Amino acid sequence: MKTLHVELGERSYPIYIGRGLLGHPDLIQAHLPGGQVLVVTNEVVAPLYLDRMLASLAGKDTGSVVLPDGEAHKTLDSAMAVFDALLARRFGRNAAIVALGGGVIGDLAGFAAACYQRGVPFIQVPTTLLSQVDSSVGGKTAVNHPRGKNMIGAFYQPRCVLADTDTLDTLPDRELSAGLAEVIKYGFIRDPEFLAWLEANVERLLQRDPEALAYAIERSCINKAEIVAEDETETGVRATLNLGHTFGHAIETGMGYGVCLHGEAVAIGMCQAADLSRRLGWIGDDEVARVIRLLERARLPVVPPRELDADAFLEHMAVDKKNVDGGLRLVLLKSLGEATLPVAVDAGLLRATLECYGR
Ligand SMILES: NC(=O)c1ccc[n+]([C@@H]2O[C@H](COP(=O)([O-])OP(=O)(O)OC[C@H]3O[C@@H](n4cnc5c(N)ncnc54)[C@H](O)[C@@H]3O)[C@@H](O)[C@H]2O)c1
Repeated sequence: MKTLHVELGERSYPIYIGRGLLGHPDLIQAHLPGGQVLVVTNEVVAPLYLDRMLASLAGKDTGSVVLPDGEAHKTLDSAMAVFDALLARRFGRNAAIVALGGGVIGDLAGFAAACYQRGVPFIQVPTTLLSQVDSSVGGKTAVNHPRGKNMIGAFYQPRCVLADTDTLDTLPDRELSAGLAEVIKYGFIRDPEFLAWLEANVERLLQRDPEALAYAIERSCINKAEIVAEDETETGVRATLNLGHTFGHAIETGMGYGVCLHGEAVAIGMCQAADLSRRLGWIGDDEVARVIRLLERARLPVVPPRELDADAFLEHMAVDKKNVDGGLRLVLLKSLGEATLPVAVDAGLLRATLECYGR
């Protein structure tokens, strides 16, 4: 097992990464302040891992909420189902919420934990590659609004993150690739050495080579933990984690939540961001080709959906948390391995990317 730390003063917490961690009750129990625990999960993950999770909470007063699966259910209604379960059991301020699942469950359960009685302890047990390398670390929690992704949320840190890499054995290939988009993102935004490693090892990751996966998860979490420690509430460098996300969120909202997986939308968005960075003269054709090639090799889509034209993109991109006073701002690439902070971009160049790239 590897243990990393997110250094946030009194809100610091460990990230445990390793095989079979769900079978080690001591790990999770050390982070539970009281006797009441509600596990939030979904209908896909529950049959696979809920029993194991509850067994590791033996001796506690436990309950569970099993939500419908998918991004379309990352809503206030689902958060309300969590509040209902907490109140029905008369769970109090010391009750902990455990998120067992992918990023949808983690974001939603974290949001519920931030709100319930103004904040109860929260633990992340991520079961997808994407959630183990990105969403479970850093305390961003949210639900979606029909008009925009993650528009209702809070910064709320977990007490610990328990990433049992054995859970990835049951993850569908398409979801594994979606997780790789966020892994590759660290290479593009700040870690050129990791980028070179990924270019040499992406096939091993697709084949689920345990050693390669363990390395990629650990290196991703190190990157994420460093960024979060430097800028917890995204007033600066944390925004670089949004490379490709403004385009990607427009795809997710525009196509309807769940049609394009989050990681897939981010992959396409990173290609669009690379194309725009080239138009600004910051990177060259070779670098754009490297971005596209690596994502393709990870079996990710690299061109935007035909259904969304430039105007549709612009309409959805206008609803983004990085925008200031209504002005669109994007994270782009200064070089391969270095992202910019959000920048205002020339409207003509942005339209050129939206109309020409991948069309
Ligand atoms: N908070 C953050 O910082 C942050 C960062 C990145 C992404 N996100 C959010 O994360 C979400 C995407 O997360 P995701 O890709 O994990 O999607 P997800 O939670 O929808 O999980 C993907 C699919 O895999 C299933 N699943 C989960 N674990 C499984 C397992 N072990 N075996 C088999 N199936 C399993 C899920 O039920 C679902 O069908 C998006 O809502 C995105 O906005 C948040």
